[in-house]
Amino acid sequence: MTEKYIHGTSKDEQARLRLLNKITNRSFIAYLGDCHDLSICDFGCGLGTLIGDLAEAYPGSKIVGLEISEAQASVARQNNPGHGNVAIIRTDVLCNDLPAGSFDITYCRYLLEHVADPVAVVKEMVRTTKPGGKIVSQENDLHNVIYHPEIKGHDEVMQQFCNLQIKLGGSPFIGRELFDIYKSAGVTEIELSYAPEIYTENDPEKYRAWMQNSLHILLGVREMMLQHNMVPEKIFDGVCHAIGERIASPKGVSLFHWNRVTGYKRASC
Ligand SMILES: C[S@@+](CC[C@H](N)C(=O)[O-])C[C@H]1O[C@@H](n2cnc3c(N)ncnc32)[C@H](O)[C@@H]1O
Repeated sequence: MTEKYIHGTSKDEQARLRLLNKITNRSFIAYLGDCHDLSICDFGCGLGTLIGDLAEAYPGSKIVGLEISEAQASVARQNNPGHGNVAIIRTDVLCNDLPAGSFDITYCRYLLEHVADPVAVVKEMVRTTKPGGKIVSQENDLHNVIYHPEIKGHDEVMQQFCNLQIKLGGSPFIGRELFDIYKSAGVTEIELSYAPEIYTENDPEKYRAWMQNSLHILLGVREMMLQHNMVPEKIFDGVCHAIGERIASPKGVSLFHWNRVTGYKRASC
């Protein structure tokens, strides 16, 4: 298998990413802090949904999104037609033509897990950030996906999902690596934190949305995993079926957390 974006850009996947944005944008925007009248760059902006929410919250700020896939970038443009303060550039984040020191904040979300050289990406974020500015990331660590009651076969499927992501050139455990990655990229002032995603049967709507996202991540790799004999079909489909049952009838709890990092570029750089 060659390096490849594990989720792809099908319509189903775009719907899943839109749902994930709906669930996680508000808390990420709060994490960015006060963004009034700032210049901001989103590395790997996907469908531009987060940029849209940010542009609405901070109409005086200028936001640039960088996205490698034309399929995603064109949706990102469609998603931001009325936002005169937004520009979407189709480019590999590592080959952008942006001048050094362009932005008050550069951030990436759910990107570093998919790239072969995350340190190079963060170095690029540091380069394009103004001295005194912030470099922010939010990523996952797939050891943190917990359902209670347990779903039979889930651990095996997740283990193989992680193996698949590694084979495709990504890192499913990038969350725990963020401190090292920022340090290797030359950032000295680094703050780490967690963003919890805790869902219980007592709030069925939110529980369902989160489980839908989890189910669609698995369905998106079903063919690839079965083709490569990574998990027996019966086990894979059994896990998807069990998640589907929890969506139909929420039960127990689902626990997860994102790993977050903010780095500060020294004012003297
Ligand atoms: C999981 S999506 C996350 C999108 C968005 N950041 C969000 O939070 O919704 C990852 C995105 O990064 C893009 N991507 C992957 N590698 C990239 C690269 N080297 N340069 C630019 N974009 C990249 C993918 O095409 C995809 O749209």
